[in-house]
Amino acid sequence: TNVLLIHGPNLNLLGKREIDIYGNKTLEEINDLLMGKARELKINLEIKQYNCEGRIIESIHQARDRFDGIIINPGAYSHYSIAIRDAIAGVKLPTIEVHLSNIYAREDFRHFSVISPVVIGQISGLGELSYILALEAIVNIIETIKK
Ligand code: DQA
Repeated sequence: TNVLLIHGPNLNLLGKREIDIYGNKTLEEINDLLMGKARELKINLEIKQYNCEGRIIESIHQARDRFDGIIINPGAYSHYSIAIRDAIAGVKLPTIEVHLSNIYAREDFRHFSVISPVVIGQISGLGELSYILALEAIVNIIETIKK
């Protein structure tokens, strides 16, 4: 089982800025946690972080032949990138949307995600646990599809 995790824009700053919202763990620390979880689940996890919309889109396109499922935190692009939404809809891989913060408890402009309608589900507000749960869920979903 091969899973691609894409962290979107500004997530490279985790643990350094807006700690009250996103927590004090760095991206590297969260990724280490996830790689440990992947070993536990005996799956292959590849993790990318991109600040550019186009890189995210290309990475989704390339996932088609190499991965069984995608976990994505599109960052601020969640709220307006029709292009990322179309890429996810286009490759037809099972995808889970993740947010560290509870986007529904924040500014109005974060309450709406253009990505949500094209993913299987969304996990929001649980900090790094959002990613861990998404990994467990996507592996479960992929294995169910394969049966
Ligand atoms: C975020 C929420 C977005 O609104 C914000 O722009 C981010 C991070 C989250 O993980 O909580 O960059 O996706």
